[in-house]
Amino acid sequence: MLKGDRAYDAEFVGFRYGWRGVVNGDTIPIDRHDVRGLSRQGGTILGSSRTNPYEGERGGPENIRRTMAELGVDAIIAIGGEGTLTAARRLSDEGINIVGVPKTIDNDLAGTDYSFGFDTAVEIATESIDRVRTTAESHQRCILVEVMGRHVGWIALHSGMAAGAHAILIPEQPESIEQIVEWVESVRDRGRAPVLAVSEGFRLSTMEGEHSHKGLDAFNRPRLGGIAELLAPEIEARTGIESRSVAIGHVQRGGVPSAYDRVLATRLGMHAVDAVTKEQWGTMVALRGTDIVHTTIAEATGGLNVVPTARYEEAAVLFG
Ligand code: F6P
Repeated sequence: MLKGDRAYDAEFVGFRYGWRGVVNGDTIPIDRHDVRGLSRQGGTILGSSRTNPYEGERGGPENIRRTMAELGVDAIIAIGGEGTLTAARRLSDEGINIVGVPKTIDNDLAGTDYSFGFDTAVEIATESIDRVRTTAESHQRCILVEVMGRHVGWIALHSGMAAGAHAILIPEQPESIEQIVEWVESVRDRGRAPVLAVSEGFRLSTMEGEHSHKGLDAFNRPRLGGIAELLAPEIEARTGIESRSVAIGHVQRGGVPSAYDRVLATRLGMHAVDAVTKEQWGTMVALRGTDIVHTTIAEATGGLNVVPTARYEEAAVLFG
């Protein structure tokens, strides 16, 4: 925002609660005083929602175009993950002026090495695994720590590796219960207490899909969570080791952002303003190596940024 103000004399408004604000024409003015000190804050001053901009009486491209014209808004900078940017891509294809910014703890957007939010979530997940190790070791229990990430295992992979988890279970790599039990028993046999990092989207090789018992969100995607709770009694029954699970849930999505995320968000924001000024509609700003580049929202949402098999195999050498 600050760059837009300084370099281009642009004016900004914020849509409240993401797409819900776009659909309802609900905005707040944003000037440089409103963003003062913002990079130190987690979350968003605008609010967020799981609103599908194609739904409701005022949804859809025609209504949104009219709403933008009434508000005098030339372009939308859509900040979000796969759900937000998939909707942005559809609207962009239908002629709405949109530039995308990748923000998701899941790190599931293609076209960018990292999205901001991810590093902070990994820090919190790592600390959580470190902390449960205390109880695991003093009580000689097996503890499964479930982290978020939807269909990709980046948070589990990075936090599990950082915290030295004895196995990391991710959606990209279904495993059998027998294999998990083997890892757990080998840890126990060395006199250690097994600690496992489990991604919410992980499934056993015998399961048809991810464990989801909480229905669908507004984008018709299954709400995930609960797989670690399902696995713990199964591990206990097969190994005799008292096994517990803890899902850190939204704890990993809040609080103070890491320095890395603050820098990434600031850089991506500045480049998004450049893209708007150049009218590069349908662009998404992205991180490649240490450079910020311009890719397309279509590329970013065309396929998931999954954990490559090689990255999993690299970590799996240390399991058990
Ligand atoms: O996409 C981000 C994310 O935190 C996922 O990791 C998780 O599955 C989902 O959102 C949770 O969504 P909600 O807060 O709507 O339950």
